[in-house]
This record gives sequence, C-alpha cells and structure tokens, in this order.
Amino acid sequence: MPLKINVHAVRPFDATADIAVIGAYTLPKTKPGEVPAPLKAIDAALGGGLAKLVAKEEFTAKRDQVLAIATLGRLPVDKIFVVGLGDRRALSHADVRAFAGKAARCANNEKARALALGLPDGLEKKLRYVAEGLELGAYRFTKYLTGERRPKVDLDSVAITCEAKVRAPEAKKAIDLGQKIASAVNLSRDLSNEPSNALPPAALAARAQDMAKASGITIQVFDHKEILKRGMKLIDAVGRGSANEPRFVHMSYVPKKAKKKLVFVGKGITFDSGGLSIKPAAGMGEMKHDMSGAGNMVGLMAAVAALKPNVEVHGIIAAAENMPDGNAYRPGDVWGSLDGKTVEIINTDAEGRLVLADALAYARTLQPDMIVDNATLTGACVVALGNSCSGWYASNEQTANTFAAAVKEAGETMWRMPLLEDLREQIKSEVADVKQTGDRFGGSITAALFLREFIGDTKNWVHADIAGPVTAERPSGWTQAKGATGHGVLTFLALIERAGA
Ligand code: BES
Ligand code: MN
Ligand code: ZN
Repeated sequence: MPLKINVHAVRPFDATADIAVIGAYTLPKTKPGEVPAPLKAIDAALGGGLAKLVAKEEFTAKRDQVLAIATLGRLPVDKIFVVGLGDRRALSHADVRAFAGKAARCANNEKARALALGLPDGLEKKLRYVAEGLELGAYRFTKYLTGERRPKVDLDSVAITCEAKVRAPEAKKAIDLGQKIASAVNLSRDLSNEPSNALPPAALAARAQDMAKASGITIQVFDHKEILKRGMKLIDAVGRGSANEPRFVHMSYVPKKAKKKLVFVGKGITFDSGGLSIKPAAGMGEMKHDMSGAGNMVGLMAAVAALKPNVEVHGIIAAAENMPDGNAYRPGDVWGSLDGKTVEIINTDAEGRLVLADALAYARTLQPDMIVDNATLTGACVVALGNSCSGWYASNEQTANTFAAAVKEAGETMWRMPLLEDLREQIKSEVADVKQTGDRFGGSITAALFLREFIGDTKNWVHADIAGPVTAERPSGWTQAKGATGHGVLTFLALIERAGA
C-alpha cells in the first residue's frame, strides 16, 4: 500500500503524529546557552532546555547527524528527530531522497504509524524526491513473516510541512510521481528478495505480466518452445539442468512521438547453483538474487509507465535457472547462439553472460539508439569495487558521457570500468568462435568483452555489473533495508528522462 502523503500547514511538532522528523541545514554558531535560530521554535514548544542538549550532543546539523529529542508528553508527537542536511548548496536530488529515506526508516524503528516531516526552505521544490525517499526508506520485505514475527505497526501516513509556500496541485503531482517511481523500485526489490522456490522463470515472467497489465505496458513472453524455435540456444543451454523451464520476456513502452529508442536488458537467473561447476555451499542462498537485473527491468518499465517520457523504451529479460542435472550443459560443450557465433563452455557457473548473449542479439534487432544491460555478473566486479558500487562499461566515449550524467543525476554509486582490448586474448577459443571465460585476472572485464561479441553493429552499448550493490547488508542512503536494493533502476530511469528532455 502506498503511504498517504499530505502537505500540511501545521508545524511538524504540533502535528497529530507519532514522531516528527525535521531537516536542518548546517546550524549557525551560537553563544553558550543559546539555541541556534532554526531550532528556536522547537525549544519554545518544549518550554526550553534544548540549548543544553544541542551542546552536549555537539549537534551542528552536519550531513546525517541526528538529534533525538523526547517530548515527554509536552507535544502531540512522542519524539522529534532533527536530521542534519549539511550545506544547503551541496544538496542533490539524491541527498534529498536519502534524507526522506532516513525519516521513513526512523518511523519504522520507532513503530510509528504517522510521521510528521518538516522540510527546511528549498525542499518544497523537491517533493518528488522526498516522496521517493519516503517510499524507498519505508520498504521492508515481510511477506513470509507470520504471527509474532510480523511487524505490528506499519508506517501509514506522512504529513509534510514546508517552511515556504507550496502550490497544492503541483505538490500533489510531484508527490504522486515520486511515490510511483519508488513503488516501481520496490517492485524490483520484491522480485529480487523472493526466494527461488517461489520465483522460477515462469513465475518471474508472470510477475512481469502482472506489472504490464496494471501499468499499460506491452508484453510478450516466450516459453521454452518459442525460445528453441527462435534459436536462443544459449538460454536453452543454461536452463537445461533445471526442471523449471526458461522464459524470455520483452516489455515495451512506445509513445506516439519518441525522441529516442532505448533497450534495456536484464539477467534473470532465478537461482544460480553454478550448475555442474557447482558453487560452494556457503552463501549459495544469496544466489536467489541472481535475477536482480531482470527484476530491475520489471520495476523500470513500471516507472516508465508512470513517468510517460517521449522515449521508446524496451525491457528485456532472459530468465533461466542454473542447476546441475543429467540434462545440464557441461564444461567443454560447444553451443550455438541466436547471434550465430559458437561458444566453448569453460565453466557452467559463468551462465549469466550466456543468457545475456542471446538477449543482446535479440535486443539489437530492435535497432535502438542505445542498449543497456544489467546483471549480477561477476564476483570479480565485487572484488574490484566492493559491495556498494557497481561497475559499468561503455562502447564509446559519447555513450560513456551520457551514462555518467545519468549516474550523477540518480546519485547511485557506479564506477566506470575499462574494456581492455589486451584481455580479449583470454576469450579466444581453439574449438569455437569465442570462449566463455578467461582466467582469474580481470574477470569482470573479460565478461564484458564476451558480451560485446554479441552486440553486432550496435554503436552505443553500456553493460552494468551490479553483483555487489544490488543487495545490502545494512541500511544506507535511501536503501534503508537489508536485502535487495533495486540498484540501477533510478540511473536507468534518469537516462530515459534525459533522453526525452
Ligand atoms: N551470479 C554469479 C556472480 C555473483 C557473484 C553475483 C557474487 C553476486 C555475488 C555469476 O553467475 C558467477 O557465478 N560468476 C562467476 C564467473 C566465473 C565462473 C568466471 C564468478 O564470478 O565467480
Ligand atoms: Mn554463476
Ligand atoms: Zn549467476
């Protein structure tokens, strides 16, 4: 259920709510015993005493600093949290989103049903990002918790107070768009968090169909028979070891007058056991998230339906389960592909690049201005950049600049990686057109170089390896929950928005 978000005239700490969260820019220096001006209203409402707390906590409202104030029955709200925003000039859309995310997280921690949110002046123009942050920050995956384990209280309503005047219709529009975008990212998170027994390829495709139906997105789903008929031999190869058949999904949004055509592709391995090159037991359960790139596609298309850009957008999913079995594909095999190139299999655990190869060969037939693929592709990328940053590759500098601008706008942590031509040696095969993997060194780069073999004459291509940041071990930024983060969706949406502007 979306939050009920309203803009109020009541001061946040006078609102009928469980807690109030108030944003504050870096506070002016004050004399000992004096309350900084922006906090004077709170101090007065409490009947004084705030100066001592501010001094003791050394609270200056620098970025992310939080001052917790118990109201002890003196105000309608039980607690006030003043959250530092730092320098107001340095505040990006992503910072606003992170602040609101923190507020929602705070409400969840305090078991609050109603939150009063105080925005300092300037933020009344950023209500879309405030709403995004609130929905993203309030997110929890509680579907499988029953009885005592279910959270008893869910955040339900947010009353926003702005210092400056806001025009109600515009505020409502901005909030509505922000909530829809965040709900789309939360859908990506939901799909990624879903355990693999509940989300085989056919179920993932069905969830995409549900989204499409609800948002007016066009969708085609190819079953195993159709995948074989069309010659998607690599998707078939990867899926062979599983009793759950593969699926291929093509979602599209085609407006009347489109400035550009963008095609997005996602890896949808609903479980990655490694196949015959089986993974070690420790941490294997994390591989339920190996369809996050595909989950991102479902969320992205839902967000596109809300944003309605004048850009043609396609979302493609190659879904399969990678399992060991008598029917499974093997190291040493040589398989054909939709592109036509033959591939020598080295390690059945490098399955992602295989399903993506066929998806890229399909994507390019749409003759887009740009193809962007995203995948939980390599552990090597996590080794290189850590688990909170994804790595991306671009086929040329202009495409790189375009993508970098979207990354910056969205505020996601993504770092550009190089397509080092030297390493192409590693994927040359004696028996086939191309070898599936290289050696231990540069594993994220050789995976990208392998994918590049399948983009044909596509000029503008970006590959994002999201293996690390698509899940989180602890809350941070606007990702205020453990598990799936939906990392990537907001950047792809920013790319689309900029292409339509
Ligand atoms: N899904 C994994 C990559 C992965 C690793 C995602 C850790 C998230 C966290 C991928 O299919 C894989 O197994 N890659 C192998 C490739 C290797 C066999 C060349 C890897 O990274 O070890
Ligand atoms: Mn694998
Ligand atoms: Zn995988």
